[in-house]
Amino acid sequence: MSSNKDMQIEEKVEALLSQMTLEEKIGQMSQIRHFEESADAHIKEKFIGSVIHTQGTLPGKTALDWQKRFIQLQKEALSTRLGIPLLFAVDAVHGQNTYEGATIFPHNIALGATQNENLVEEIAKITAIESQATGFNWVFSPCIAIPYNEKWGRVYEAFSESTEITEKLTRASVRGHQGDLSDSKTVMATAKHFVGDGATDFGVEGGNTSLSTYEIKERLLSPYKVAVKEKVGAVMASFNSISGISMHNHKALLTDTLKVGMNFDGILVSDWKAYSRFNGNDVINAGVDVVMAVDGDLEDFQDGLAKGIKDGSVNMSRIDDAVRRILRQKFRLGLFENPFPNEELIAKIGNSSHRKIAKQAVRESLVLLKNKDKLLPLSKEMKKIVVVGEHANSSGLQSGGWTIDWQGKDDNYKGATNILEGLKKQTKGEIVYDKNATGKHYDADVAIIVVGEKPYAEFFGDIGHESNDLELTLTKEHQNYIKAYKEKGIKTVVILISGRPLVVTDQIDQSDAFVAAWLMGSEGDGLAEVLFGDYNFSGKLPHSWPKSIEDYKQKYGPNFWDNSVKPLFEIGYGLKY
Ligand code: BGC
Repeated sequence: MSSNKDMQIEEKVEALLSQMTLEEKIGQMSQIRHFEESADAHIKEKFIGSVIHTQGTLPGKTALDWQKRFIQLQKEALSTRLGIPLLFAVDAVHGQNTYEGATIFPHNIALGATQNENLVEEIAKITAIESQATGFNWVFSPCIAIPYNEKWGRVYEAFSESTEITEKLTRASVRGHQGDLSDSKTVMATAKHFVGDGATDFGVEGGNTSLSTYEIKERLLSPYKVAVKEKVGAVMASFNSISGISMHNHKALLTDTLKVGMNFDGILVSDWKAYSRFNGNDVINAGVDVVMAVDGDLEDFQDGLAKGIKDGSVNMSRIDDAVRRILRQKFRLGLFENPFPNEELIAKIGNSSHRKIAKQAVRESLVLLKNKDKLLPLSKEMKKIVVVGEHANSSGLQSGGWTIDWQGKDDNYKGATNILEGLKKQTKGEIVYDKNATGKHYDADVAIIVVGEKPYAEFFGDIGHESNDLELTLTKEHQNYIKAYKEKGIKTVVILISGRPLVVTDQIDQSDAFVAAWLMGSEGDGLAEVLFGDYNFSGKLPHSWPKSIEDYKQKYGPNFWDNSVKPLFEIGYGLKY
């Protein structure tokens, strides 16, 4: 963006800000859900600045219905005294994953395995188009955490444990999402969660990190510098604490480091209900500009902040800083001229050119960990192949959390191709499906056994959390799928579907070929194209791979920078044909 254009925007921001009442300013700082009771009235009467869609009631059935609902809300905002348009935000973290029928890409950990920045940029561009097509101009993505412990339930939302890989893919992702921001096919991106989300002790979501200031600076902050340099429109504060100080109250990091030190001039958005969770106005004083004032928080936030101004515990200059940032991004997005979504984009949702890129991402993300006696690539002439495991026959299971639903789905979803369907497209021989390895198919030439984790998101995926029975290894049942075929002397190709490296040392030993396939999203047929040799493997491990559960007894996992634990495979490992 030219500096001339920037200056004009700054002038417009100041002109508008000077006309605003305190109520209107606090309104701009408020974010609500589109289906909450009185959402329409609140937009008009409480001057709401942005709307979020995540888990919960859908805005409608079809993409057109979604657009219509958001157009209706936008009209409410435009009818207010100053007519400031709304931002519409969505958790589109691997494609527009909240809309059934959208192209759903592999999760970031898989993109970390591709190390392909052009591909990541392309994926972000498509995500922007499909998000705009469903009515959004803001996405809460990319997650640029550096996971230090694989027990964390959000490892898959991040690209890699490597700061360097994360930097490279962050740059591509922000570029792809935002373009020059004023184009109606692009969206504002959000780098999240600032900072230390993936580096809490023992991998607890929202826990405390005891890393030193030096380590935070060296390993965790530099992807944010990259994002800010790419003019990322927003940064989201994190649920975790650093040395006991909650990030939502951490003025030194939020304001001094991010806003002042890095020159970040965009919006600092809170995470879910942070105002009530982290001491009200301390959140604002630390530097947060937009508050997710959802699920009953709106009144407390708006009244509480007004009170803070009145009693002097919050300065007016802090409010003005927040509103300037919000208006600046709205001008940069061109929302004052172009507040409504474009109906023509709807035809692009889930189209074949988008799915083609998603399939490429699946192929490039697969990491071959073992290939004994060159079992792979498989011949398309094989007479009989048995496919095992419920993960083989479910696009939901192959996609992980944040797929259609917040916690993901166990069954198939619209527009997706599952692994089994993909395999059937590739071979001339017979394919039989033996979901639970019950036997009967010991005459097969090869068994493709698909095992792994069930979908999860956020703290539901933390290992050791009381909400689940997750372990850092496969369930007994899945271990037995592999054993059953191994004991009958059938050659086995094991495909691991997981949001993180798991301890599978014994299963790798038992199998002839072993592939880490991550969470691949809607295009499950990408896998078959590599297994049958139409394409070679090119994925490289984005994390070092643990050899035993013991490796996780410490605060952090066997990361490549910590030499005290030797991994089974180093980061960067991956075989080829
Ligand atoms: C998550 C964020 C997400 C937000 C809005 C939070 O619980 O931590 O990553 O963007 O919800 O859905």
